[in-house]
Amino acid sequence: MNILFILSITSFFIIKLISAQSDINEECKPINKILLKDQTNNCCKNEGVICTNGHITIIYFHLPLYTLSFPPELGNLTYLENLYITGEGFNDSIPPELGNLSNLVNLKIQGKNIYGSIPSELGNLSNLEHLIISQCNLTGSIPSSIGNLSKLKELVIQDNNNISGAIPSELGNLINLEKLDLSRNTLINTIPLELGNLSNLKNLDIKESHLNGPIPSELGNLSKLERLDLSRNNLTGSIPPELGNLLKLKTLTLANNNLSGSIPKEIKKLNIKLNTSNNPLLETENNNNLLLIIFIIVICVVIIILIILISYLKTKKKIIEEENAKRCKNKISFGSENHPDIYIS
Ligand SMILES: *[C@@H]1O[C@H](CO)[C@@H](O)[C@H](O)[C@H]1NC(C)=O
Ligand SMILES: *[C@@H]1O[C@H](CO)[C@@H](O)[C@H](O)[C@H]1NC(C)=O
Ligand SMILES: *[C@@H]1O[C@H](CO)[C@@H](O)[C@H](O)[C@H]1NC(C)=O
Ligand SMILES: *[C@@H]1O[C@H](CO)[C@@H](O)[C@H](O)[C@H]1NC(C)=O
Ligand SMILES: *[C@@H]1O[C@H](CO)[C@@H](O)[C@H](O)[C@H]1NC(C)=O
Ligand SMILES: *[C@@H]1O[C@H](CO)[C@@H](O)[C@H](O)[C@H]1NC(C)=O
Ligand SMILES: *[C@@H]1O[C@H](CO)[C@@H](O)[C@H](O)[C@H]1NC(C)=O
Ligand SMILES: *[C@@H]1O[C@H](CO)[C@@H](O)[C@H](O)[C@H]1NC(C)=O
Ligand SMILES: *[C@@H]1O[C@H](CO)[C@@H](O)[C@H](O)[C@H]1NC(C)=O
Ligand SMILES: *[C@@H]1O[C@H](CO)[C@@H](O)[C@H](O)[C@H]1NC(C)=O
Ligand SMILES: *[C@@H]1O[C@H](CO)[C@@H](O)[C@H](O)[C@H]1NC(C)=O
Ligand SMILES: *[C@@H]1O[C@H](CO)[C@@H](O)[C@H](O)[C@H]1NC(C)=O
Repeated sequence: MNILFILSITSFFIIKLISAQSDINEECKPINKILLKDQTNNCCKNEGVICTNGHITIIYFHLPLYTLSFPPELGNLTYLENLYITGEGFNDSIPPELGNLSNLVNLKIQGKNIYGSIPSELGNLSNLEHLIISQCNLTGSIPSSIGNLSKLKELVIQDNNNISGAIPSELGNLINLEKLDLSRNTLINTIPLELGNLSNLKNLDIKESHLNGPIPSELGNLSKLERLDLSRNNLTGSIPPELGNLLKLKTLTLANNNLSGSIPKEIKKLNIKLNTSNNPLLETENNNNLLLIIFIIVICVVIIILIILISYLKTKKKIIEEENAKRCKNKISFGSENHPDIYIS
């Protein structure tokens, strides 16, 4: 009975060990392909691969050297939680199969030889919290399916020079988002009003992305916002006074746009680092100061002229009085002949 029990326990563990081994062998296939290793290699022993309970859970690859394809089989690594692919080693597009990694929490892709578009399948990564796709050579637009990643806290699609098209209004559904960085793309479009629904957002950066149109007043609803950078775009219209509602704001950068009007007093009241330089149509405080200085100079000149005029008139009056006095004196001396009664006393 005891022997039977021990035997069954051992066989259970042996079977589990073997199956785990075969799982790992299966999971290592795409990794070994990337690492240019033999198919029998246990990739868990390789740098940049971490296995937990017999499954690959973390991949961190920085591949600066060789040019490789991006194996679609990576999408079979069901247990993967973190996938970081950086460097210039990948010369391929992003495989849509990555959208099958249902346990993925962090995804970072960075490499200037990665081309093609962002697969809409990434919108199926329902556990994703951080999505960073930067410094790639991507074309196409930002898929609206990204708006389905309800657990997302950080979305960075930055410096992918050929990403164009609209910012999907669906991004406004990402209510857990704390950081949104869409800077340095070729998005030739407006800022969607829906971004004003991102109630947990602390950092919004869409600089250098060829944005046009106005700054939506809805951004004034982002009550947790600490940093807003919309510089180096082609934004027009006036600065919405609603931005003055952003009481947590520390920096507001609107430089190098085509904004007009004046800086709302609601924003001037905030104790923030404000940069509105290079908006030729914007009436800045400096212009106001200049007007004030000109006004003061004009007043001073008027006062000086008045003083000169008054003193001139005074001296003239004095001269006239003196002349009159002289004339009187003369009259008096001549008067001795004309007025004999002076001699009476
Ligand atoms: C692994 O991925 C490939 C290509 O995506 C697919 O054809 C294959 O069925 C997958 N294998 C498993 C075991 O899921
Ligand atoms: C990338 O691959 C293409 C062919 O698919 C090739 O023409 C190109 O030179 C490669 N780029 C680099 C940087 O290796
Ligand atoms: C993985 O994704 C591809 C394309 O997105 C799909 O065709 C395939 O059925 C998926 N495989 C699995 C095992 O879910
Ligand atoms: C994944 O996303 C694509 C396109 O966004 C969709 O067509 C597909 O049905 C999704 N697959 C799963 C398994 O959710
Ligand atoms: C980016 O991709 C385009 C083709 O889509 C190619 O012509 C260009 O050379 C690539 N740029 C870099 C920096 O790899
Ligand atoms: C987002 O998810 C919903 C439900 O899961 C689905 O119906 C819709 O097609 C998805 N949207 C996109 C753009 O993939
Ligand atoms: C953008 O894409 C075009 C072709 O679609 C290509 O000629 C150009 O080099 C790309 N620009 C960058 C900065 O990669
Ligand atoms: C998001 O914002 C838009 C426009 O500002 C608004 O019409 C919509 O009702 C908002 N959606 C949610 C779910 O709050
Ligand atoms: C957001 O701001 C707009 C305009 O500034 C306002 O009309 C709207 O009621 C606000 N929405 C919420 C949910 O606060
Ligand atoms: C900015 O937008 C205006 C129209 O709104 C357009 O006439 C102008 O050419 C644009 N400037 C740049 C630098 O894109
Ligand atoms: C204001 O922003 C512009 C554009 O981002 C930058 O070039 C400039 O140095 C900034 N000025 C200050 C005083 O920070
Ligand atoms: C600024 O906007 C005006 C009209 O709103 C437009 O005529 C002008 O071309 C724009 N300037 C630049 C540098 O884009």
